Amino acid sequence: MGFDTVITNGTIVTAVDTYAADIALTNGKIAAIGKDLPTQNANAVIDARGRLIMPGGIDVHTHLDMPFGGTTSADDFETGTRAAAFGGTTTLIDFAIQYKGQTLRKAFDTWMNKAAGKAVCDYAFHCIMTDVSGGQLSEMNDLVGEGVTSFKLFMAYPGVFMLDDGSIFKALQTTSKNGALVCMHAENGSAIDVIVQQALAEGKKAPKYHALTRPTTAEAEATARAIALAEMAGAPIYIVHLSCNDALEKVREARDRGLPVYAETCPQYLYLSIDNFDVPGFEGAKYVFTPPLREKWHQEKLWNGLQRDHLQVVSTDHCPFCFKEQKELGKDDFTKIPNGGPGVEHRMSLIYSGGVAAGRFSANRFVELVATAPAKLFGLYPRKGTIAVGSDADIVIFDPQRKHTISAKTHHMRVDYSMFEGIEITGMPHVVLSRGRVLMQADRFVGRAGQGEFLRRATYTQVNG
Ligand code: URP
Ligand code: ZN
Ligand code: ZN
Repeated sequence: MGFDTVITNGTIVTAVDTYAADIALTNGKIAAIGKDLPTQNANAVIDARGRLIMPGGIDVHTHLDMPFGGTTSADDFETGTRAAAFGGTTTLIDFAIQYKGQTLRKAFDTWMNKAAGKAVCDYAFHCIMTDVSGGQLSEMNDLVGEGVTSFKLFMAYPGVFMLDDGSIFKALQTTSKNGALVCMHAENGSAIDVIVQQALAEGKKAPKYHALTRPTTAEAEATARAIALAEMAGAPIYIVHLSCNDALEKVREARDRGLPVYAETCPQYLYLSIDNFDVPGFEGAKYVFTPPLREKWHQEKLWNGLQRDHLQVVSTDHCPFCFKEQKELGKDDFTKIPNGGPGVEHRMSLIYSGGVAAGRFSANRFVELVATAPAKLFGLYPRKGTIAVGSDADIVIFDPQRKHTISAKTHHMRVDYSMFEGIEITGMPHVVLSRGRVLMQADRFVGRAGQGEFLRRATYTQVNG
């Protein structure tokens, strides 16, 4: 009996190593790594000459089929995971939302149903908690038992998602005991609401006012408060979609003190800026998401944070709404524009391009940011996030030279615009495998809806720092 698949002639890149070797895959796992592995009895041989072999990407922040802002995000679990696969991402962690008065179980069941039979690659869930006034705190332990080992809390969106500090503190006390990780949307929602109401009263209703009413100080203040609450509770904390240097400084200071504080940023904050709102008419709505785009100088600070491990993860916060009919809900009032942008397809290439090809950090650091650290922090390592014997055969054969210009005309996300339209990237996935099965090869999708599995995650493990 031979191997199912042997990948030959490639260069393996993990978070810690770069070396030439063949990889053999059997029963969805990596079965062997070595020089000149036997290919004669293999069902398939893939020649990876000139290409990098990396673990499949893990995007820990997506919103597929999510009701929000009076509509529902445009990608469901089939179209969203398919687009992810085109971009080399083979695991998503999405968010199951507990609405006020509901149990956490209800949220989990609802989102399991949304994904079942649709996802083309593996997926897991965080649970968004909007109400802890019932039995939800003790229910957090039940969800951890189901493999939902992280909880997103909001310090923004008063009346919708926002929790008060006492509730947040109680949730953190619970995770300090059950080993789960709180993911925090850190913006001071109460102060922002005042600024928003004042802007509306002054007739400032265009899309750019979404950004102008959410100052960086509101993000920095909430980030510092979240860290303080976590420190008091003795719990780790993970700051989601960090967008600006002010908040980054708070994370860096906490990590310098040795606290288990982690943060992610997203490609939009690395590539786009408030200047993107300088477009005609209502076009700026394409860039309405939260936290908003910042002044351009923040971008290099964030790249630097990724390089120095002040930031540990790049996710996308993929939350697509079509410009026509969805973003247009806010044509006369920016507060009615559904918040979110599409990005799941291009995370790997944007970060490889701006990080490795541009000389900011190594290919190993790239792998750490997009796969290994996400796997460790969210309880998937070493099943996911690395190339090792026994790990799932989630593999990207990546062409580091290939150039591509991003466009809505060619992307695979179910949305009618791209935030990154016209940006040229260097480095593209050539073949993408999920548990040993080819999902995408040479720009052709060959996977199947429903072949993705729900991942029961372990609790978080610390990453270096
Ligand atoms: O604007 C955004 N980010 N939409 C998705 C919800 C969230 O806060 O992550
Ligand atoms: Zn958020
Ligand atoms: Zn989000």
